[in-house]
Amino acid sequence: MNKQAIPIITGIEESKSENTYPSLIKGYVLACTNKSEKQLIESGVFCTGRAYGHKVMAVKKGDIVFLLNIDTDELIGPFIAKSEGDYNPEKSPFGSKYPYIVEVVSDGTTIHRLSNAKNLFKKLNINWRSDILSEKGVQLIKQLVLRKKDIGTLRIKNKETLIAKNYRPPLFSTTLWDYPYQSYGDTPKGNNKYPGVTPAFIIYNMLYRYTIPGDTVLDPMTGSGTTIDVCKEEKRNVIAFDIVPTRPDIKQADARNLPLPDESIDMVFIDSPYGDNIRYNDHPDNIGHIPATDEAFYDELEKVMKECYRVMKPGKYLGWLIGDQWAKKHFVPVGFKIYERLTKYFEPVDIISVVRRNQASNTPIWHRRAIEHNFYLRGFKYLIIVRKPDKDSSSKKKDLNIKWNFYER
Ligand SMILES: C[S@@+](CC[C@H](N)C(=O)[O-])C[C@H]1O[C@@H](n2cnc3c(N)ncnc32)[C@H](O)[C@@H]1O
Repeated sequence: MNKQAIPIITGIEESKSENTYPSLIKGYVLACTNKSEKQLIESGVFCTGRAYGHKVMAVKKGDIVFLLNIDTDELIGPFIAKSEGDYNPEKSPFGSKYPYIVEVVSDGTTIHRLSNAKNLFKKLNINWRSDILSEKGVQLIKQLVLRKKDIGTLRIKNKETLIAKNYRPPLFSTTLWDYPYQSYGDTPKGNNKYPGVTPAFIIYNMLYRYTIPGDTVLDPMTGSGTTIDVCKEEKRNVIAFDIVPTRPDIKQADARNLPLPDESIDMVFIDSPYGDNIRYNDHPDNIGHIPATDEAFYDELEKVMKECYRVMKPGKYLGWLIGDQWAKKHFVPVGFKIYERLTKYFEPVDIISVVRRNQASNTPIWHRRAIEHNFYLRGFKYLIIVRKPDKDSSSKKKDLNIKWNFYER
């Protein structure tokens, strides 16, 4: 193969047009039990824990909410959201155990109940736990609950349209994260034309794992501002820097020397250069001018790590997105090398493999070349998650009081 013909695999993520839900009413199904149903309905405040908190946070005033009693299998409603989704343990009828809340009112009529609800959702291909209903889905479920439509006569041609499909990304429970789009929701997250733009669902997942609304998140290399847009929508404060700011809400600073006080940050997200494979700008202090084959690249990024460590509060989390390089017939395990440097300062928490989609090399010609010439295209990036140790290193981590340490077969 012609040596010149192998460009460095850049992994530029591009979104297809997917933001297709501008401000239409959405529908949410929240769960309750026989024990909690009365209290939730009487208080007019529905609440949930971390697993579904992100769904509640997406609720807008005027959206429709249904309660599913999982003991009786009845769908109860419709209720109208009179507030946005929020994080408020004080207002929650179940306190800090279920701190994500939405205040609701009934639509003025008596509350209706529809039995066999799970079966209905199955029939409609709706995952009631995770899906958010589209306007069409809301109208249909409302008509069924209000008995204006009979389940027996249902003819749904395109079940997909009942769900607001790309309104919010999923929260991942495994170490393999895969989502087809760079952005989601009503508004863009970052600029998908920016070279090396970060897939927004990664930041979204980090926020729901390691912060609560009101926390302060830092991105020292913000690029086109994906972290800002995700944080704002999820009600986190955000501080954003870049060596060359691309918009007014990004401040100019070198990530090795941040104008921030010590121990002031609740979470850091950083998608650094992976070497000199992408030309972000011509600023002389852009670390993306140093090749990943050069040890100086890691030395400079280690300065960024130390600076993040300084500004983070003890016990808080940092997520570092990084990809390996295969260029000019040479493999560089950039991810391992970054992990090594990070864990000089931080405690390891986990490593996520993020599937790369829509990158420049994802074309038939590059797939053929990879096999023909026996090399691999980059299929994933690492999200390395680390934690700044607690101040008192003797403080033992709280034991989780759980009885499911082993996977049952
Ligand atoms: C992979 S991009 C970040 C992409 C961004 N998360 C987004 O979604 O658009 C890496 C960024 O690091 C910035 N950068 C490089 N060297 C820097 C430095 N010394 N201090 C601050 N930012 C730097 C580049 O300008 C570039 O915007």
